[in-house]
Amino acid sequence: MRKARIAVLVSGGGTNLQAILDASAAGKIPHGEVVLVVSNKEDAYALERAKKANVAGVTLTKKQLGSQEAFETALTKTLTDYGVELIVLAGFLSILSETFTSRWPRRILNIHPSLIPSFCGAGYYGLKVHEAALKKGVKVTGATVHFVNEIPDGGEILLQKAVRVQPGDTPERLQLRVMQQAEWKLLPKAVELVSKEIVNGRN
Ligand code: GAR
Repeated sequence: MRKARIAVLVSGGGTNLQAILDASAAGKIPHGEVVLVVSNKEDAYALERAKKANVAGVTLTKKQLGSQEAFETALTKTLTDYGVELIVLAGFLSILSETFTSRWPRRILNIHPSLIPSFCGAGYYGLKVHEAALKKGVKVTGATVHFVNEIPDGGEILLQKAVRVQPGDTPERLQLRVMQQAEWKLLPKAVELVSKEIVNGRN
């Protein structure tokens, strides 16, 4: 059976990338295959995870390339070289321009660590999201997988999962619970859903 060719874009630790790689190794993503990991940070541990899984890893930084435009041009070329059909933003902490996102309608997925539309948009990333949730005093938060368009965290929602905030939570504790209970489950599931649609030519 043909598999959709997937690139995962990362900036840091890559636990969400790992969740995809593990799900794939366990046969839970039968319609997709991770063929490439792109990091926009030179020292991202996610690149080690790619190496261990025998997946090609490429580093492209805005600093190196001089501008967002040059970064996106290099990214497009790399994705084309690898025949990528689906892009997954897994802790990729840079906002892609409309020029880029408009070329990939329903072909870019992002995982965000809150229940969108809460605690999302420009400036809400990583621990900052959980700090904001705790500051507001919400009792339930979670994670969202959505398609990416030109509005940060504004594309169509595909999957969401709620997670309870516990008394005494720190941003770090809450982040870990949201990852364990929601992100690491939702993202592989969404990747399989869209891969299947790509292979079956349905969206
Ligand atoms: C994850 O919690 C992800 O949801 C978040 O960054 C973390 C990356 O962790 N993404 C965003 O905040 C995007 N706005 P990871 O590198 O271990 O997957």
